[in-house]
Amino acid sequence: MTEGPANRLVFGQALRSLWGLDPEARLINHGSFGATPLEILAEQVHWRSLMERNTARFFVNSLPGLLREAAGELGHFVGVAPDRLAFLDNATAGTNAVLRGLALRPGDEILTTSHVYNAVRSTLRFLSDTQGVVAREVALPLPVTEDAQIVETVRAGLTSRTRLVVVDHVASASAMTFPVKQIVALAHAQGVPVLVDGAHAPGLFSLDIDAIGADWYVGNCHKWLCAPKGAAFIAIRDGLDHPVHPLAISHAYGEGFVPEFDFIGTRDPSAWLSIPAAIRLHQRLGGPELRQRNRELARHVAERMMTETGMRLVCPFEASHAMVALRWPIPVPGSRARARAMHDALYDRHGFEAAVTTVANELCLRISVAAYNEASDFDGLGDALADVLDVTI
Ligand SMILES: Cc1ncc(COP(=O)(O)O)c(C=O)c1O
Repeated sequence: MTEGPANRLVFGQALRSLWGLDPEARLINHGSFGATPLEILAEQVHWRSLMERNTARFFVNSLPGLLREAAGELGHFVGVAPDRLAFLDNATAGTNAVLRGLALRPGDEILTTSHVYNAVRSTLRFLSDTQGVVAREVALPLPVTEDAQIVETVRAGLTSRTRLVVVDHVASASAMTFPVKQIVALAHAQGVPVLVDGAHAPGLFSLDIDAIGADWYVGNCHKWLCAPKGAAFIAIRDGLDHPVHPLAISHAYGEGFVPEFDFIGTRDPSAWLSIPAAIRLHQRLGGPELRQRNRELARHVAERMMTETGMRLVCPFEASHAMVALRWPIPVPGSRARARAMHDALYDRHGFEAAVTTVANELCLRISVAAYNEASDFDGLGDALADVLDVTI
């Protein structure tokens, strides 16, 4: 971290050497997979070296305590007691553990919204195919204007057969932050449990998982916290009486949430053990100040794009943070295949590594601002977007 003349934190190019980023690429999609700073990768090497010095002692004697220490630090950061927090490889493992672990009957309904992450949609389809579960997706037409509209749409989707609500904290394609606390309260009032998919939330904004009250909350640390890939978690509500088991059942089956998740067979735990170092770096880079700076710059860049190109917001700025999704002035109908083709053309023709997403069958551009980004990273993006509009499949 460098300090500016007025003793303020400096971001953008000045920070870039903390990462081993490709200097040729114009990286404006931190959101999809994050990027891990070199010192956190070194931390991961440290844990791997410790493991390999004496593997049996490490796994049998040291690891259980180390995991709980890491869970304590992460729990403090995200607002949940460590005995209700366990590590996962990724958010996908967490959503699958919850969804596939429910004892559902044919005709039981799982309610979600049209902003649901596509991999979660696939898991719901799997449950339809294998268990006859009905996946109900309520549509949120674009643009989404206010929280009340979302809450009302979810309310209208609840039926007497609803067994679970799955809601994103921050939706991937639209970058929209959902009013999860209100949705949890609404569902709980009708006796329906809630799974919050918070894949993007840790490090994007300040998080208090217990205050949200979801039955299960799944989050990634390898996105906005910049932890190594494979650093994610599941948190459960205090007093939760719906069990959740890891996808891989191992020795500790039946011994409770923490023992079951803490050993799911031999695997490399170095990403999990590096989470505390990633949290400390995040704080050193400013913590709330970094998040606020990223949010403000994302808004600034989005406003510039809107002026230059006529693109429009998917949801109000109040509902977005360091990621903002924009729609083309005239809606561009899009499949995931076309989004992929436009993404490739943006890179091949213009060097932009940008996220082209689909929301409600419409193509959107999702910009991300991380600590290493600055406004000039987005120069020429408007022209590049106009240029790739000819891409079809
Ligand atoms: C909303 C949401 N859920 C789940 C995931 C899946 O995360 P992972 O690939 O780490 O499992 C993502 C990834 O971008 C996401 O945006």
